[in-house]
Amino acid sequence: MKKLFDKDCPVGVTTTSLLHGKTSGVINLNGLKYPWAYNLWEQMLGNTWFPKEVGLTADSKEYHVLLPSEKNLYDKVLAQLIFMDGVQTNNTQDHVNPWITAPEINMCLARQAMEEALHSQSYAVMVDSISINTSAIYEMWRQDSELFEKNNYIVSIYEKYGALAPSDDVAKLYMLVANQCLEGIFFYSGFAAMYSLARNGKMLGSSQMIKFIQRDEVTHLSLFKNIFLSSVAEYPHLLTPEVKENIKKIFLDAVALEVKWGKYITREGVFGLSGDLIELFIKFLANERYFDLFGELLYPEVGYQVKDCPIKWFHSYSKFNDQRTNFFEGNVVNYSKGSLDLDNF
Ligand SMILES: [Fe+2]
Ligand SMILES: [Fe+2]
Repeated sequence: MKKLFDKDCPVGVTTTSLLHGKTSGVINLNGLKYPWAYNLWEQMLGNTWFPKEVGLTADSKEYHVLLPSEKNLYDKVLAQLIFMDGVQTNNTQDHVNPWITAPEINMCLARQAMEEALHSQSYAVMVDSISINTSAIYEMWRQDSELFEKNNYIVSIYEKYGALAPSDDVAKLYMLVANQCLEGIFFYSGFAAMYSLARNGKMLGSSQMIKFIQRDEVTHLSLFKNIFLSSVAEYPHLLTPEVKENIKKIFLDAVALEVKWGKYITREGVFGLSGDLIELFIKFLANERYFDLFGELLYPEVGYQVKDCPIKWFHSYSKFNDQRTNFFEGNVVNYSKGSLDLDNF
C-alpha cells in the first residue's frame, strides 16, 4: 500500500517512480513525471458521455420481435458485460491503484473507475428499456455454466494476483496483463455480436451505447499498456524469461476462454458472424495486445494491424478519431466531446 504523503519526495516532481515511488501526495500537473498520463486524462474527459442520452425507444420495440437466437445472444452479451464492468469498477480501485505511486496515473485510474460504473449504468438503461427479463439477465451467471466459467476465471486471476501484488512486483505485472486480457479480449465477442445485430438493422441504440463504451475501453487499454511499459522500463529485472512465459500463458488461456464463449453465444446463428470468424478475431485482438507489450505476435499467421482484422466491418463500427494515439510520443490533438454524432465513429 502506497503512502499518501512522503516528505522525502524531491522538489519539483510528482513522484520518483511508478512503483515504490516517493510522492508528495500533491497532484502537481505542472511537474509531471509521466506526461502521457495527463494526455490520457484529457482524452478521457473529452470522451465524457451519459447513458441516458442514447435513444433506445426503437430498441425497446425491436427487442420483442428479434429472432429467438438474436434475443438469446443479446441477453447473454448483456449478462457478461454487466459482470465484467462491475468487477472492473472495484478491481481498478482495490487491486491496482493502491500500489501505483504516481498521482497523475492515480487520477486516470479514478476516472477509469468512474467510467466502469458509468458502463454499469448504461447496461441498466438498456435492460430497463428492452427487457421483460430484467432479473433473468442480472442473475444469468447463476444458471449459465459457460458464463459462470468465464466470470470465475476473471475473478480468480484478479483475486490471486491482486492479493499478492502489494508485496510482489511480478504479481503487479500479471495484474496489468490480466487487465489487458479482460478489456482488450474478453469484451470483444460481445461488442462484435452487438455490432452484428446493428449491421442487420437491429438494436441500433444498443449498438451506439456499445460504441461509447468501447471508446472508453480503448483509453483504459492505453492506460494499462503504458503503466506496464513504464514499469518494465524502470524495473527491467522483473521481466525474466519465466515471467514472460507466464504472461504468454495468461494471454493464451484468455484467448481459449473467449473463443469458447464467442462460439457459445453465436452457436444458434448470427448474421455476419461464425464461430471460426470469432476465433480468428480473438486471436487478432490478442496479437494486438501482445504486440503492444512485447513487439511480438502470438499468432503470426493472423496479423495485428487494422488491415488484418478478420471481421472486415468491425473497425468501421468501432473506429473513433485518434484512439490509437501513442501517449509516450505525442500529445492528444483531437479532444472529442461526448457527442452522439455518428460521423465520429
Ligand atoms: Fe467498462
Ligand atoms: Fe474498462
